[in-house]
Amino acid sequence: MKKELAPFKSCLHPRPNVIVSCRDQEGRDNALAVAYATNCSYDPPMVMVGIVPSRYSYDIVKETGVFVVNLVPKDLEKEYFYLGSHSGRDEDKIKNLNLEVKDGTVVNAPLLVNFPVNIECSVVDSILTGSHEMFIGKVDKVHINEELVASEEKVDLSKIDFL
Ligand SMILES: Cc1cc2nc3c(=O)[nH]c(=O)nc-3n(C[C@H](O)[C@H](O)[C@H](O)COP(=O)(O)O)c2cc1C
Repeated sequence: MKKELAPFKSCLHPRPNVIVSCRDQEGRDNALAVAYATNCSYDPPMVMVGIVPSRYSYDIVKETGVFVVNLVPKDLEKEYFYLGSHSGRDEDKIKNLNLEVKDGTVVNAPLLVNFPVNIECSVVDSILTGSHEMFIGKVDKVHINEELVASEEKVDLSKIDFL
């Protein structure tokens, strides 16, 4: 197999599709699409999301130190790309998409109820890697739709048709 050298930047694939939601200190909610995201500790559970400093959400996460990661099924693709192509600087995206919001139970940030898994996180560290700042979030609480609970200890994510 012949290999070429490729000018390839976001190299890892497939990339996850998550939505990070946050709440500013005046209580305004916002959310953005994030592909720079991964699990980064099993015990204690932690996740990492990369946010570009020019994003409206960046200052919110930086100041409040909390965020929610929402996993995205295919049927919410339109909402995902809307949140990834409009800024909370210009509009209330959550209201314009008619998304239902519930308060986090641990962190002061919104859970996007339409999305089947919502992960409440508190920032424990962050690294400005280059274009993105990687926020490491301790997982404080995970909310999942009841039909995904397989047993007391198991979650069946195979029922979600992920984007
Ligand atoms: C598929 C997709 C993936 C994206 N991934 C990221 C990402 O990992 N980090 C980031 O900061 N922006 C990412 N964006 C861009 C933001 O979601 C976009 O700039 C958004 O409008 C920012 O919203 P805000 O200004 O309200 O925070 C992505 C956009 C799309 C469509």
